[in-house]
Amino acid sequence: MDIFDKIKANKGPLGMYQKEAHGYFTFPKLEGEIAPRMKFRGKEVLTWSLNNYIGLANHPEVRKADADAAREYGLAYPMGARMMSGQTGKHEELESQLADFEHKEDAYLLNYGYQGMTSIIDALLGRNDVVVYDAECHACIVDGLRMHLGKRFVYPHNDMELCRKQLENATKLAAKQNGGVLLITEGVFGMSGDLGNLKAIAELKNTYNFRILVDDAHGFGTMGATGSGIGEHFGVQDKIDLYFGTFAKSMAGIGAFIASDESVIDYLKYNMRSQIFAKSLPMPMVYGALKRLELLRNTPELREKLWTIVRALQSGLKAKGFNLGKTESPVTPVILNGSIPEATNIIFDLRENYGVFCSMVVYPVVPKGVIMLRLIPTAEHTLEDVEYTINAFSEIQKKLSAGKYAADKIAEV
Ligand SMILES: Cc1ncc(COP(=O)(O)O)c(C=O)c1O
Repeated sequence: MDIFDKIKANKGPLGMYQKEAHGYFTFPKLEGEIAPRMKFRGKEVLTWSLNNYIGLANHPEVRKADADAAREYGLAYPMGARMMSGQTGKHEELESQLADFEHKEDAYLLNYGYQGMTSIIDALLGRNDVVVYDAECHACIVDGLRMHLGKRFVYPHNDMELCRKQLENATKLAAKQNGGVLLITEGVFGMSGDLGNLKAIAELKNTYNFRILVDDAHGFGTMGATGSGIGEHFGVQDKIDLYFGTFAKSMAGIGAFIASDESVIDYLKYNMRSQIFAKSLPMPMVYGALKRLELLRNTPELREKLWTIVRALQSGLKAKGFNLGKTESPVTPVILNGSIPEATNIIFDLRENYGVFCSMVVYPVVPKGVIMLRLIPTAEHTLEDVEYTINAFSEIQKKLSAGKYAADKIAEV
């Protein structure tokens, strides 16, 4: 069969909806400055779908740092991979500040979180090593594990008894083949907002010999007394052997990092294929990240404002009877019952008639019959935005219960 014929016949689990969805449910264009109010198809919408948690995207100092660095360096410098010709003192300075913030000996920059994570996993593991991981880990972890030639044991999301059992299995197998054990979890789970049970996982270190790698994409900048993430939140940062954060969420930028012991970072610098065989982060990203990190560390008011909005939104929705699952982070999933067509009709109603823009998650990401509307509060939202949105959600819930959203017909846009 011709490859192109094959992909035309089977467009994939998301691509199969392309015709109805493209430009509205998928690939929507949000225009204007990143803020709670943006334009969608020419109309103003209240946006709850951007991970600009502490509102740095349009902070004047951030915009200035980005622009100044772009003016001075353009996007070319430095050319080449870090190992070859892409090294600068600013890259090193950013790494040392990230390491300091995360209470680790050293850190290393990654061009993208997704690529970086796959490559960290690839670099760390040999075929005799064994992995234990949470079933709801992000695609970058799952895809990193696809490269792993050895055995892996998955445990149901946050099920600590089965996690322990899998560690037991992994330990036995690793001992037989003279390999090590790596446990991987997220800090804040990006879809559901609940937290990797790192206190319990860290305690398992008293029984089993393993290393912990945490993807804290959503916890970095939002969790812990100083915003340094999930390790700080649970008081177990010293038990997390490899701490991963991205600049794509709280930092409202691009790039990512891994922080760990100096010897581990040295190893990764010489063995991570995503960094050895790719160009170094351009200077504006590095200067921009330094400014963002400075603000993230020195402006706790931004995080406090975020949490004021989070608490108002989550307690207000709960008071109206909404099911928010087990979130303990800013990520706010609103879990409803309904079909995929109903989900599209709700999103259409929210966007067109209430001017509320949020993301929808449906099967196969959540079970059949479940609709998850995912709200991301930020420090830029106001309490009026929260009240307005809770009222809009109450009205759509009433319409959904009354069967007002066509259950068998995708919204026509
Ligand atoms: C949990 C998690 N890990 C990793 C990533 C990837 O980060 P990046 O956008 O920097 O590639 C994301 C972002 O989508 C994420 O949510």
